[in-house]
Amino acid sequence: MSAEIAVHIEGLRRVFGTRAVLDGVDLDIARGEFVALLGASGTGKTTLLRILGALDRSDGGTVLVPEARTIVFQEPRLVPSKRVLDNVVVGLPRGRATREIGLRALTEVGLERHARTWPATLSGGEAQRVALARALVREPELLLLDEPFAALDALTRMRMQDLVGELCRVHRPAVLLVTHDVEEAIRLADRVAVLRDGNLVTDQVVAVDRPRDPTDPAFAALRRRLLADLGVHTADASTADAASSGSVSSSRLSPSSSPSSTGVI
Ligand SMILES: Nc1ncnc2c1ncn2[C@@H]1O[C@H](COP(=O)(O)OP(=O)(O)O)[C@@H](O)[C@H]1O
Ligand SMILES: [Mg+2]
Repeated sequence: MSAEIAVHIEGLRRVFGTRAVLDGVDLDIARGEFVALLGASGTGKTTLLRILGALDRSDGGTVLVPEARTIVFQEPRLVPSKRVLDNVVVGLPRGRATREIGLRALTEVGLERHARTWPATLSGGEAQRVALARALVREPELLLLDEPFAALDALTRMRMQDLVGELCRVHRPAVLLVTHDVEEAIRLADRVAVLRDGNLVTDQVVAVDRPRDPTDPAFAALRRRLLADLGVHTADASTADAASSGSVSSSRLSPSSSPSSTGVI
């Protein structure tokens, strides 16, 4: 395999009951590449992410991922009984060096003042920034983001998108961002893929100049194409809200079995 490849997925299958939720998915992600994965609710986006994160197993195919990988979920999943900094470094070896690394990550997400704050007193956006800091201190080669902005208000969501874009430019992990927000995908990603009926029906480079502006004709054309690929046909498919308020939305699932066939690059 090429040294430039961070993730290699080939013929990936995952079957629940009689339904093949993932039915031969092929996807490569290069080192430092940011890929957005779009798909309607229930198409298997979270399932794919969980397999990459070794939280679920596959039923066939090949999955190669870096060992250093972390997932950020829609909800921050902080430990309520630990202060913010202790949440960031949870699970890491204790000591001054670790605390300094944790503080640096908190500074990067703009929350250094909240190192000793309890999670319950944070806003939704702040809590999600702590979750990001917790992911960053592990210096992942692969960052898996499962609709991390979906629960935030519109303004906070845009700020978080900017922050994640900036942090990914600095740290250069490979990123797989699951979202049902077409605009978010185009704004952030180097490549966008659409999951439908168990397969990727689209996988294309986002050829829109940065900073990306929704009024750019190239942005608008890609948005129309992606909405069509998602199965959203509107007379005026000019807003991503057509997707998020219509048939395309998010869903959650509960933890399942242990990993069996996820290889490490
Ligand atoms: N552990 C499981 N057992 C049975 N069905 C599951 C399990 N996990 C997910 N599914 C089903 O697989 C489908 C895809 O789920 P999911 O990956 O959460 O979709 P998405 O994230 O795209 O909304 C859904 O129909 C869901 O109910
Ligand atoms: Mg999901």
